[in-house]
This record gives sequence, structure tokens and C-alpha cells, in this order.
Amino acid sequence: MSSSGSIVTPSVPTQRLMSVASHLHSQRFKVVVCRNLGPHVMSILEARPELDLVVWPQDSACERSWLMENISGATGVIVMLTDKVNAELLDKAGPSLKVVSTMSVGYDHIDLKEAAQRGLKVGYTPDVLTDAVADLSVMLALMAGRNGGTAVDLVQRGQWATFSWAPFGLCGPQLSTTAASPTRKIGFLGFGRIAQATLARLVPFGITHCLYFSNPSSLPNHARDAALAKQHKLQAVSKVDLDELSRESDVLFILAPGGGETYHIVNETLLRKMKRTSILVNASRGTLVDSDALAKALREGWIWGAGLDVVEGEPNVTIDHPLVKEPRCVIVPHIASATLETRLEMATRAAQNLIGAILGREMPSEVNLSDVS
Ligand code: GLV
Repeated sequence: MSSSGSIVTPSVPTQRLMSVASHLHSQRFKVVVCRNLGPHVMSILEARPELDLVVWPQDSACERSWLMENISGATGVIVMLTDKVNAELLDKAGPSLKVVSTMSVGYDHIDLKEAAQRGLKVGYTPDVLTDAVADLSVMLALMAGRNGGTAVDLVQRGQWATFSWAPFGLCGPQLSTTAASPTRKIGFLGFGRIAQATLARLVPFGITHCLYFSNPSSLPNHARDAALAKQHKLQAVSKVDLDELSRESDVLFILAPGGGETYHIVNETLLRKMKRTSILVNASRGTLVDSDALAKALREGWIWGAGLDVVEGEPNVTIDHPLVKEPRCVIVPHIASATLETRLEMATRAAQNLIGAILGREMPSEVNLSDVS
């Protein structure tokens, strides 16, 4: 209608443009969502008229057979770290697939080589979980050092009444420095965002040195390390080799990516070098630690304790697992990012990455596949 109310017939070229626009608008993209992301984030996805959502209907990890059945013809998929994205799945999806968006910072469950070969985009959720994971890493260090697992278990079994307070009962190594023990060396295997956020949290404990081992191909960053040492008033922040890292660390945090390059990097050789009073914390991927070697280290007292958010082979970690049997091993079931705030941000980021890729816009967090061969 014109402003005067009379009907105006558009010219032929305008009609063509309108028809192309309406075709584009009506184009719909199948998107498979491997877990309900909650009302807030599902409504972001549901509000996009371009998306045809197929959502795993149960409140449990998505079954592989369901995913294989439903992925065919999809343009995008939102996966969890429990969903393996490999050639088999990508073949089943077919050439329509444009994007795999994972609600996790780690992406070792996605075959990046296969994704790169198919020209796919991969989204992930860095940054938003840094603080939550750093918080939990400190919690695990404290729990492991202070016999947290044994102590909580004792109360829950109703045994407090028979446990009499003793001068050295349930004692463990102190994380913070004391007048008699004024040095604390904190080690990091992997020194990215989460490791540095963990370091910042440990400063008030009086730590004195930070040692780290990171990707051997990355160049030392002396200026950054000097700046960190100055900022946190530490005697040193130093990149070291694995040998020095294991010998010197009072607490060793494993915060490096999973995958073939780091598989069992924490093995018997490394553990044998650690201090008898040291603590090992793993909040990255279970595959970095040889569980049998760690169980032996705890049993034979090569190290004091361990705090684990992840275990190789999870979630199949039952009460007869060698690490579950170790009283000085505190294990929580992969909950490092599990705060209400962080999980909401992760789910939102996963949805934004997917929408960005499908609509040809920028993805807030895209895995760089340019070096993947
Ligand atoms: C958790 O382990 C993650 O990768 O987000």
C-alpha cells in the first residue's frame, strides 16, 4: 500500500528481489541439540525462525544411536563433551553440516582433522568458565592436602563420635606458608587462562614461586612471566622442564588440553620425582594421568594426595577403581565448571556460536582450524 492507501504494483525486478528474499527467509536449517540447554538458552534457539530444532528428549547423555539417526541432513549440531564427533558421525550428517558447537572449553571429543577436511566450523566456550574451574582447582588442592575426602566421609558414616581429636589426627600439608615453612612452589602443567586464574587465587596463601611447563613448541615469554611475578609479588614465575616441575612443585595443577600429545604425561616416572608432601590436582582431562601409576604413587606414599575432577574412562569410575580406593584421593565427577552462572554462559555461548555460523555471522568463540592437518 502507498501512503495514500492505493495499491502499488512493484516493478518486475523488485518482484524478483522480493521473491529471492522471501525464499531466503523461508530457508530452514535442521539443528540437532544433544541436550536440553534449559529454558533461557532453548528460547534463544527457538526464537530463530530459520532453525528446525531436533532436541534429545531425555535428561541424560544423548544416546549415540539417537544422534546417528537424527544427524542426517543437519546444518548444525550442539554437542556436549560426552558426544564423540568423529568421521562416522560427520559422514552420517552429510554435506549439509556447517557447524559443530560444543558446550565445553575442551574439544578433544571432536576430530578436528575430520572437521577441517570437511570445511566445518567448530565452536567452543573458552573464557566464560575460567573462574569456575580455577575456583574448583583450589578447592581440590585444599581438599586433597587437608584429608577432605576422609574427613567428610567419617562424619557422613556417623563415625565422629568414635574419632577422638588427636594432636596429629587427620593432619596434612598446609597450602599457605608459615613462619617455619616460608616457601611454596606451585607448579602448572599447562599455563593458559585457567592456570593463570588459579595462580591469582593462590597469591593470598603466600605462595612464593610459580613454575610451569607448557607446549614445548611455544616460545618462552620472559616479559609476561616477569610481569606476572611483579603483579603477584612472587620470587619467580619460570617456564621449566617436566623434570624440574615434578621435583619442585608443592602442588602440581594439571590444566592442559587432552589428546594424543598429552596422553599419560603424568606417569610413573613423573610421579616418582615428586615430593612426598606434594599434591596433584587434575581439572583438565583424565587422559593426562595414568590412573594406575597415580594409585601406586598414593598407596606407596610417593606423593601426599590427589584432587581429581576428571579420571580417564569417566564416567565409568566405580568403587573398585584403584583411585577411588585411595583414601588420599579426592574425586569429584567432572564438575569444575558447574556453577549456575558459568553453565548458563557456556550454554548461551554454544547457542550463539551455532547461530553465528549458520547465519554466516561471526561466531563469538571459534576453534582455529587453520593449523589442523
Ligand atoms: C570441561 O571439561 C570443558 O571442557 O568445558
